[in-house]
Amino acid sequence: MIISKPFLTVEQIQNRVRELAAEISEDYKGKEILSVGILRGAFIFFADIVRLIQVPMEIDFLNVSSYMKTETSGEIKIHTDLREDIKDKDVLLIEDIVDTGLTLNYIRNRLLSRQPASLKICAFLDKKPRRRVEVPLDYIGFEIPDEYIVGYGLDYDNKFRNLPYIAIFKKNI
Ligand code: PRP
Repeated sequence: MIISKPFLTVEQIQNRVRELAAEISEDYKGKEILSVGILRGAFIFFADIVRLIQVPMEIDFLNVSSYMKTETSGEIKIHTDLREDIKDKDVLLIEDIVDTGLTLNYIRNRLLSRQPASLKICAFLDKKPRRRVEVPLDYIGFEIPDEYIVGYGLDYDNKFRNLPYIAIFKKNI
C-alpha cells in the first residue's frame, strides 16, 4: 500500500475552497441556505467551506455509504437521515467526491421529493471518467482523473481521511 506525494496540496485546496465559497456567497446573496454535508467523506470540506460562505445558514448532515474498500456496492445505505424538514428551503448539498454518481443521484431524488425551494450541489472533486449516472453539479472544486484518492476526508477502508492534502492511493506496487 502506498500513498503518493500530494496530488492536491493544502494550498491548492484552500485556494479553491475560498473561490467556491465566494461564488456561492454571491449566488445566494439575500437568501438563507440549509447546507447539508454528506458524511462521512465530506466532513472536512464541509467544515472548511461553510466557514467561508457569507450567507446565513442552517446546517444538517446525511450519513450514507455505498463503498466497500475501493468499489461501490451500487447500493446506497442511509445510516442517518436529515434532522431538518427541507420543504421550501434553499438546500445546498456539500459532497467530497462524485465518482459513479450513484450516491448523489439517489440523495438528490430522495431530497427533491421533499419539495425544497431549490436544491444545488457543491462537489469538491469530480471524477468524470467513472460516471454511470448523470447528476447536475452546480459547483465543482476540481475535475480529477480515474485514480483512487485519499485524504481531506476521503478514505480507503475508513483510513487516511485525516491527511491534510489529497494523495493517490495504490494498493499494490
Ligand atoms: C464516497 C464519497 C461519496 C460517494 C461517491 O462515500 O464520499 O459520497 O462515495 O461515489 P459514487 O459517486 O460512486 O456514488 P462512501 O460510500 O465511501 O462513504 P463515506 O463518505 O462514509 O466514505
